[in-house]
Amino acid sequence: MIDTHCHLNDSQFDNDLENVINSFFVSGGDSIICVSADYPSSIKAKQIAEINDNIYYTIGVHPDDCNSYDETELEDLIITKSDKLVAIGEIGLDYFHNKLNRAKQIEVFTSQINLAIKYRLPIIIHCRDAYQDVLEILKKYSPLEVGVVMHCYSGSLEFARELIKLGVKISFTGNVTYKNSIKTKDVAKNIPLESMFFETDAPYLTPEPNRGKRNEPKYVFNTAKFVAELRGIDADELIKITDENAKKFFNI
Ligand code: NI
Repeated sequence: MIDTHCHLNDSQFDNDLENVINSFFVSGGDSIICVSADYPSSIKAKQIAEINDNIYYTIGVHPDDCNSYDETELEDLIITKSDKLVAIGEIGLDYFHNKLNRAKQIEVFTSQINLAIKYRLPIIIHCRDAYQDVLEILKKYSPLEVGVVMHCYSGSLEFARELIKLGVKISFTGNVTYKNSIKTKDVAKNIPLESMFFETDAPYLTPEPNRGKRNEPKYVFNTAKFVAELRGIDADELIKITDENAKKFFNI
């Protein structure tokens, strides 16, 4: 199985990164996409991907770090990429953590969308309390031809359907397993299988029954099994479909 979004470059993995990666593969994992949130984590993601088989990477600046964004710096990382660069992300808008710099967030988001279109790379979107603005930007800048995934989706089913109509993929983390995630469960249960895939967002958002512990790529299976049960389908069958979706999306 593929963990399509994991922060192996997070300092929480500095002391035991090799063990974390090994236990994922021992558990039956196939590949991991190491996702970045700023310039230093993008450099680190590339290094991790370069020395490990079946680990890919992304580069990008998260909306929480939009003040550190430099377009030339990011473009240089694309020009000097390795063949394991699979996407731009995570990028987007976060009005939950920061309502006061919306204009700056939008500027940094659209700049990275334009780079993704220029270099034909799909994008991974982080969106919190900003669905309407994200939708408008997607319609205006049309990155849909390169591929768009809404990571850690937590919006409504209605909104998910609107995104899917545009060709956007929906990705679920461990938070779908949480007792109070009623809306997210509704989405996971009802959207078409060909529009979804799974991620851990490790070290964050550990799925049940390990909630509270540090998250790891190997727990991606728990989220997939949970959603398979929700939908009343076989977990292996679900994983087969969602892995195919992810492989196609990230071109791996
Ligand atoms: Ni993330």
